Amino acid sequence: MKILLAERAGFCFGVKRAIDLAFETANKQRGTKIATLGPLIHNPQTVQRLREDGIDVVNSLDELSEGVVIIRSHGVPPATIEEAERKGLAVVDATCPFVRRAMRWANELYQDGYQVVIVGDEAHPEVAAVKAYTNDTAVVIRSADEASKVPESDRIGVVAQTTQSSENFAACIEALRKRCRELKFFDSICTATAERQDEARRLASQVDVMLVVGGHNSANTTRLAEICREAGARTYHIETKDEIKPEWFSNGLDHELTVGITAGASTPKWLIEEVVERMNELNEKNELQGMAADVQEENLVTDGTPAAADVGGDTNPVQENEESLDIPTMEEYSESLSTLSQGEIVKGVVVQVDDEEVLVDVGAKSEGRIPRNELGLKANQSPSDVVSVGDEIDVYVLRVEDNEGTILLSKRRADQQKAWERLEKAYENGEIVEAEVTERVRGGLLVDVGVRGFVPASQVDRNYVENLEQYIGQTFRMKIIELDRQKNNVVLSRRLVLEEEFEKAKAEIFSTLEEGQIVKGIVRRITDFGAFVDIGHGVEGLLHVSEMAYSRVEHPSDVLSEGDEIEVKVIRVDKDRERISLSLKQALPNPWDNIGEKYRVGDKVKGVVTRVVDFGAFVKLEDGVEGLVHISQLADHHVANASDVVSPGQEVLVKVISLDEEQKRIGLSIRQAKEKPAPPKPEPKETPETYSTSEGSTGLTLADRLDIDLQAVLREKND
Ligand code: F3S
Repeated sequence: MKILLAERAGFCFGVKRAIDLAFETANKQRGTKIATLGPLIHNPQTVQRLREDGIDVVNSLDELSEGVVIIRSHGVPPATIEEAERKGLAVVDATCPFVRRAMRWANELYQDGYQVVIVGDEAHPEVAAVKAYTNDTAVVIRSADEASKVPESDRIGVVAQTTQSSENFAACIEALRKRCRELKFFDSICTATAERQDEARRLASQVDVMLVVGGHNSANTTRLAEICREAGARTYHIETKDEIKPEWFSNGLDHELTVGITAGASTPKWLIEEVVERMNELNEKNELQGMAADVQEENLVTDGTPAAADVGGDTNPVQENEESLDIPTMEEYSESLSTLSQGEIVKGVVVQVDDEEVLVDVGAKSEGRIPRNELGLKANQSPSDVVSVGDEIDVYVLRVEDNEGTILLSKRRADQQKAWERLEKAYENGEIVEAEVTERVRGGLLVDVGVRGFVPASQVDRNYVENLEQYIGQTFRMKIIELDRQKNNVVLSRRLVLEEEFEKAKAEIFSTLEEGQIVKGIVRRITDFGAFVDIGHGVEGLLHVSEMAYSRVEHPSDVLSEGDEIEVKVIRVDKDRERISLSLKQALPNPWDNIGEKYRVGDKVKGVVTRVVDFGAFVKLEDGVEGLVHISQLADHHVANASDVVSPGQEVLVKVISLDEEQKRIGLSIRQAKEKPAPPKPEPKETPETYSTSEGSTGLTLADRLDIDLQAVLREKND
């Protein structure tokens, strides 16, 4: 049988911290009544050991009239702390910083008017405590199904119980998105939990049987067992070694039986060790049918990192390899401070932030102090801008213990050391580093690469740049060209990166660009003969002045300005000489394409005189469309010189007198455009019509008049 122990089995940071605080209190306050409000952790064996050291458990503040009350890592509602203080009790708050962070987030959401939703178990004390920070208005849900039934709300804010699985939290978030207009969430799941669960899942998928050790009333251990079952292993949740049954390991398999062991966050190391010992005993005595005696040395790994320690065999690597997770004795506890050495960098969790200093739990007897000037603050920053309670950060140990017994730490120096390590690696491997430009100095720019870096003016861009101030606040991608840690000197080049990117982009563009393509570009430079247009990553094409418009352009600056974003047509690609020719006008519709629809013979339109010649004047009707006004059509009178009548730039009214679409010719006339309109025709008379004389009406009808005239003609004939 092969036995594998998860590396992350046992106390988490928060539980260990709570137990450390309890012992420290017991040590300092001998003779005082000390009690935890509820069991400090969900493990009856550990609770018993604490009791033996004088730390009782009370379930209500009513049971305490004096002494010290220790708040466990789950935390309590603020009203509970207030009540304890009112009663005159000394309060030792061992709330886990990660739980405290969830409380703060829930409270912020509540204050900002969000309907707070907590993903977790409503009956769990941690959830009750977090809920209290929303004035008990939060809705608690367990699953995505319950999330989909949360009453609709304008704004919903979500936090999770620290022991939730990331998958369930993500599923709840997705379901809640449909219940509101605006959703905000904080991932308050403790990384210790996620890491422990991931490792358990990985281990369970590789073994036949999993033993999950921890209190039957521990939510996180129960969840761990569920995960192992879901991963496919036959899983047993046990509290102590005595619950192990040999028949669980009878091997009807065609391979050596593999057993994995993990433990919840509240399980002390000694309980885990007892389980491992019991399993080794079973192995040694060969009590189990089919149990293989040979124990392999290697760990089961899937991703190159050890997933678990193989604890089969005579030795017990738990003791050799792992940091002690057991409840420390008083001596061990007092010695824990000496594990820190001046000048080393250690990890810690921020437990308090105020204006002048930040307190960090580095797992030692007392919390470490980072004075404000060791936080590495930038101008106008305050400590809360760079760290929050619950953050895990690296700190440099400045002094192990000062006169008051506190540890002095520096975040700034830890950050700098890490920055130098990063820079050295980037320098060695030629990697690109990103940093913000902070200042213009003589000869170049300063950038913040964790330490102060210098970019000479010649290395800022591919071309010389006059105004370096424009870059302040921008983020540069650069390569390191000089590095000397001793002299505190880092010199960087942005130009190198731009050159490399340019060459890459150029090759890409020349391999894909084709004549006739329409591309977007930015006008970079204007010259007398045209403009250079950047069509991507600094690759430029020439837009000649003759290709800027259909009509004649005097100077490119009449049409374009530097910085203009335009669409151009690629009219020529010379891959050998790496030249690209562009056209602006060809990217636009040809104005002659539908000329007959826009202008008809007889139309009067306005235009602008562009040129005056001996035989008349050219008039522009629109970009690319010009017509000729012949000298004979300039005025009603004889015109000897066209320039006597019109001049360039003059706006004139013209009449279209001819249009030849094929030849692209339009004949125009100023003279005819001025002609007065014909007088309106008289209105037709209505019948019966009366015949009028210049003297006025005779009162005769046309028939009467014809009859008179006829008689006169006959009379003349008879005479
Ligand atoms: Fe432990 Fe705190 Fe995480 S109590 S599991 S470190 S939230």
